[in-house]
Amino acid sequence: MCGIIGIISRNNQNIVPNIIDSLEKLEYRGYDSAGIAVINNNGKILRERAVGKLNNLKNKISLNPINGTIGIGHTRWATHGKPTEENAHPMMSTNIALVHNGIIENYEQIKNNLIAQGYKFTSQTDTEAVVLYLQSEIDKGVSPREAFRNMLQIVEGTYAFVAIFDLMPNILFCAKNKSPMAIGFGQNMCVGSDASSISGSCDEIVYLDDGDYAEISKDNVEFFNLDFYSIQKEKIKVTDDLVNCGKGNYEHYMFKEIMEQPSAIRKTIQANTISFNFFDDISRILILACGTSYHAGMVARYWFERYLNIPTNVEIASEYRYRSPIIEDNTLLIAITQSGETIDTLEAIEYIKEHNHTCKVLAIANVKNSAISRVADFVFYTEAGIEIGVASTKAFTSQLTVLAMLAFCKHQYLLDNLRNLPTICEGVLCLEDKIYNLAQNIQNAMSVIYLGRDNLYPIALEGALKLKEISYIHAEGFAAGEMKHGPIALINDEMPVLCLCPSGRMFSKMFSNIQVAQARGQNIVVFTDDKGALLFDCNTVVLPDICEELAPILYSIPLQLLAYRVTVLRGEDVDKPRNLAKSVTVE
Ligand code: F6R
Repeated sequence: MCGIIGIISRNNQNIVPNIIDSLEKLEYRGYDSAGIAVINNNGKILRERAVGKLNNLKNKISLNPINGTIGIGHTRWATHGKPTEENAHPMMSTNIALVHNGIIENYEQIKNNLIAQGYKFTSQTDTEAVVLYLQSEIDKGVSPREAFRNMLQIVEGTYAFVAIFDLMPNILFCAKNKSPMAIGFGQNMCVGSDASSISGSCDEIVYLDDGDYAEISKDNVEFFNLDFYSIQKEKIKVTDDLVNCGKGNYEHYMFKEIMEQPSAIRKTIQANTISFNFFDDISRILILACGTSYHAGMVARYWFERYLNIPTNVEIASEYRYRSPIIEDNTLLIAITQSGETIDTLEAIEYIKEHNHTCKVLAIANVKNSAISRVADFVFYTEAGIEIGVASTKAFTSQLTVLAMLAFCKHQYLLDNLRNLPTICEGVLCLEDKIYNLAQNIQNAMSVIYLGRDNLYPIALEGALKLKEISYIHAEGFAAGEMKHGPIALINDEMPVLCLCPSGRMFSKMFSNIQVAQARGQNIVVFTDDKGALLFDCNTVVLPDICEELAPILYSIPLQLLAYRVTVLRGEDVDKPRNLAKSVTVE
């Protein structure tokens, strides 16, 4: 969370427009405030900051321009201190400006020492302790380079830092521990929280590893390890998948990304090959993930146990390592993640690697070369392309596609069905009118219930998550059979109840659950197929016929469309819902 950027122009151009461009690409990481600091031609550090989305900063800079050929920028997701201008980055003192992504765990101790020495704090952030520590070193006559290195010896926690010093006005000082950072070489020299933010003016990229420290100048980058020995890093060519091509003709990224699902699923199937023997030495599967990716894992458990006959657990990564889990030998850990940066998932992997050396880690990730894909033993990439909308859509159905390929690796007829799925999904995208009517029906609801059974229970959870995270309507998903154990008390005529009920194994059980709901409420909507629709006397959304194992993928799509439409009708910001960020790099 938080996006950071640093740019040096190689031909003495003002880099403020480039920093703004990069911050636009990083806004998915947080939008509580944004800020820029540059060193101008007189060697002076200038800074502008604004609360809220990047547009506010842009407006401020257009009224009060700042210029420089070297500079840093930040888009914030608040951790320490409210989203105010004082707490916005870059944090600054007399000779230094610095941007930070992460959390400094020992900042109170550093802060108290500095206060005792007479330094004054103006923000509630952990980052200001770092800046004033650097200033205290400079005030003692230490060089910027030594000051930065001394700072790295004392800070504890997670960080990606970029700093500028007016005393060495041609260098960007960078360091990383647990928070992502990539350095780019091209018409400008750049450093950013992700490759996409710097790909515009760079042809080659280096990913920093934890403990790496770098000094970037106009012509060169020097890399150092934790002990400050010079090291070499591998450069990677910038490829098209790193470049964010914008919203095209769509009003919102989320809608574009929903519409891209048939192609994302198709590309994911084409890009991955899973051998018949893939699971031969595996006696247990453990799936770890968060949020939407966790829901994909929940679906996979039904598939893995049914078609691979391997006991499977699925766990929320943020809880896993705090309950002394028992890890059996020869467990395959599957970590599912869009961003590849989610710290809870990363830490859970590290916990397992430390506690059982027989476990192998398979990552299913969307972002190439991301931290989780780099620590895994194997990676299957989803080919969803860059996902910008904070609510995950195409990455989710692509994750389900890889999981289905794994689960069905010994069942050719299911793999054949999977290959037809992209075309069937195109049929669902045409249901827009029906979804629009439904969105009007629920746009003013206080709360919405989603019901599913078996492999559609996780999709009920996912449908509810999509609605609540972007529209702010409270929503909950339930296993339909659980309703009678309590939640049914919530149903009345005003409560929309959305039921997932395709024909198949679970139809009759689910049909009965729906009858029970209908006896207590009037606003029941059933997502079903032609055959199912004949049997219901309530509002239905009719989806194409689908092999029941693949229903979780198909039935996710109308629920995404519904959440999207409701949010647009309510006039909320679909792509940047409040309090959220796309990449969750704090615990
Ligand atoms: C919700 C959503 C989140 C993420 C979660 C994990 O729409 O996107 O719940 O799924 O933060 O993120 P990744 O998949 O990047 O590990």
